[in-house]
Amino acid sequence: MKNITVIKQGLNVFKKDTISVDGDKSLSIRFILLSSLSTGKCIATNLLKSEDVLNAINSIKKLGIKIRLTNNHCEVIGKGLFGYRFSDRLILDAGNSGTTARLLFSVLVSSTKWVKITGDRSLKKRDMYRIIKPLKLFGVKFKKNSKKLPISLMGPKLLQPINFTEKLGSAQCKSAVMIAALKAKGKTKLKCLPSRNHTELMFKNVLKIPIKIYKREKYDIIEIDGLKEFKSFNYKIPGDISSASFFIVLTLLSENSYLTIKNVNTNSSRTGIIKILNMMGSKIQFFNKRYYKGEKISDIYIRSKKNLKSINLNPKLNSSTIDEFLLIFLVASVSKGISVFKNLGELNKKESRRLDWGIKVLKMMGIKIKKIKNNGLKIWGQPNLKLKKTFVIKNYLKDHRIFMMCVISALSLGGNWKIYDNNSYKTSFPRFLVILKSLGAKIE
Ligand code: S3P
Repeated sequence: MKNITVIKQGLNVFKKDTISVDGDKSLSIRFILLSSLSTGKCIATNLLKSEDVLNAINSIKKLGIKIRLTNNHCEVIGKGLFGYRFSDRLILDAGNSGTTARLLFSVLVSSTKWVKITGDRSLKKRDMYRIIKPLKLFGVKFKKNSKKLPISLMGPKLLQPINFTEKLGSAQCKSAVMIAALKAKGKTKLKCLPSRNHTELMFKNVLKIPIKIYKREKYDIIEIDGLKEFKSFNYKIPGDISSASFFIVLTLLSENSYLTIKNVNTNSSRTGIIKILNMMGSKIQFFNKRYYKGEKISDIYIRSKKNLKSINLNPKLNSSTIDEFLLIFLVASVSKGISVFKNLGELNKKESRRLDWGIKVLKMMGIKIKKIKNNGLKIWGQPNLKLKKTFVIKNYLKDHRIFMMCVISALSLGGNWKIYDNNSYKTSFPRFLVILKSLGAKIE
């Protein structure tokens, strides 16, 4: 029974009313990569110690950067923009992490030796062309014409600045271009669809890099002057809204329960799920709001809610909800009416084909659900749904968010669940099961 998670009963009322979740994954990975390019000792507190972040740390260590990780601190000794030292034919393993892999390419753009970046079975299926394309314009060389990992790259010593338009609304893509631009002689101009803006905020408020950001109707325009060394910095990583979301939805769908989640990053480029759930009838509140280095931090208060209503979602909210759609689909399944979502193609490019998986899991639960044109989805909600059957989930690509969504479905709607996976959550949220158990959940 080693690799299986079994849940036989739901969780009705919580035993605890305040929790905190693990540190933000996007900020933790950015801290590791950017601090390695600074000129001194950087310290992060509350860094996420998940497998994705550990893969970023191990990769950066192989580039000759000293990193010390203790329980509360992570110390990185940066060596400047051109300070990496390593032997020929180095191989870096990003594991399951798309952010680590894509941003590793961007910190390595000026490598004078070939470096190979690889990953696990899931990451090797994901598209890397989205970052290879702009990096080639900077002058970076890639071995073979592959769009998938493993991929080797080598750079020119100095990059030429580029003008590039990012059309996917991908923060990883945007960030890869922004980080590569640090090593280019001159001004890089990036036109991009809006997506999470942590890299912009870090450049401006932490690294103090001269960047200009112009908000246009559809696109953001970002201009970066390269070759500006930056000093060491400290960073307190707030809680991850994507991790908090599992507990938000669990509380919402439970009975007579309430929960406060403390110290969460509520940057508006990440809070699509809150906007959507409140449009569907929940009354989630942020309080104790404050700003830290440009990021908005809040405590989140949530209580159970009956009679949620369906939503016809404006795709403008897709980007700020990108990692939370499985949870939104779950809520739509128990809301009154038919929910409609559009342009969700990017979901099938994540750790697994998440749009298809969402459909599969909800169909198993007896929900009427239909794929519509342009990767859209229609979900017919069943407000009083209670599950009784046995559900067997074979999460063979070990997608952490599929695992956690199934656990939340089991705890909030019941049924007898057997999930063939007991550790994928450690890629993003190592304390997930510990926190659930502290609320009273029975998970074997
Ligand atoms: C991330 C951006 C998103 C998100 C991922 C983390 C980041 O991916 O899905 O989990 O840290 O920049 P895309 O940029 O590919 O949409």
